Amino acid sequence: MEPVNVFDYEALAQARMETAAWGFYHGGSDDEVTLRANRTAFERIRLRPRMLVDVTTCDIRTTVLGTSVNMPILVAPTAMHCLAHPEGECATARGVGRASTLMIASTVSTRTMEDIAQAASGPLWFQLYVFGGIRTSEMLVRRAEAAGYRAIVLTVDLARIGNRERDIRNNFNLPHIYEKQILLAKNCLRSRRRHLPSHGIRWHGCAQSHHCPYWSKAF
Ligand SMILES: Cc1cc2nc3c(=O)[nH]c(=O)nc-3n(C[C@H](O)[C@H](O)[C@H](O)COP(=O)(O)O)c2cc1C
Repeated sequence: MEPVNVFDYEALAQARMETAAWGFYHGGSDDEVTLRANRTAFERIRLRPRMLVDVTTCDIRTTVLGTSVNMPILVAPTAMHCLAHPEGECATARGVGRASTLMIASTVSTRTMEDIAQAASGPLWFQLYVFGGIRTSEMLVRRAEAAGYRAIVLTVDLARIGNRERDIRNNFNLPHIYEKQILLAKNCLRSRRRHLPSHGIRWHGCAQSHHCPYWSKAF
């Protein structure tokens, strides 16, 4: 099947991926009520057609916080691209560069932030989870800066990971080989042991809210 839209790509991915990895990409928390609500929210967005205007050349370039992009579509931070393809985030970065838009690399990338930066030909931002200690975060930010990332996207809504029932059912765990590539495996794994419930991918849930005053000052 030749993919025609993003849902077609989804079906192709499902057919090729391990069930547990697919469950992580595709699933949400608990009964996935919010996941469905998010989809429905997108369906409520309407494009307002304007008639009798010159459409010989259409230009959808724009800027996001001062960064120029070819279209108003960015790649949101998403964890563990290597579950889908061995080149993982590096391949994503190449594709994003070709599309002349912007990628936000996740803290939970399965390629190092330096590798991703090397593969990228467009602007990169770095998404930061604040793991247990502020020193770890500071070190990640400095690494990102040195590798050429232009902004930090601070995730503040994940003091605890959701109760991802698909991951529990699928006994989803990152294969060891990828754990090693995660940006800061040692610290991620330490936090996941310390903070989190006993299932699947746990390292997202890290103490962060108590660092808010620090961050607001630092930024
Ligand atoms: C498979 C998957 C992995 C994600 N991983 C991360 C992540 O590592 N860091 C993060 O800040 N957000 C992560 N997110 C959240 C997304 O960046 C985004 O905020 C969320 O999908 C909502 O985006 P939307 O409003 O465009 O649907 C992830 C989302 C999905 C579906």
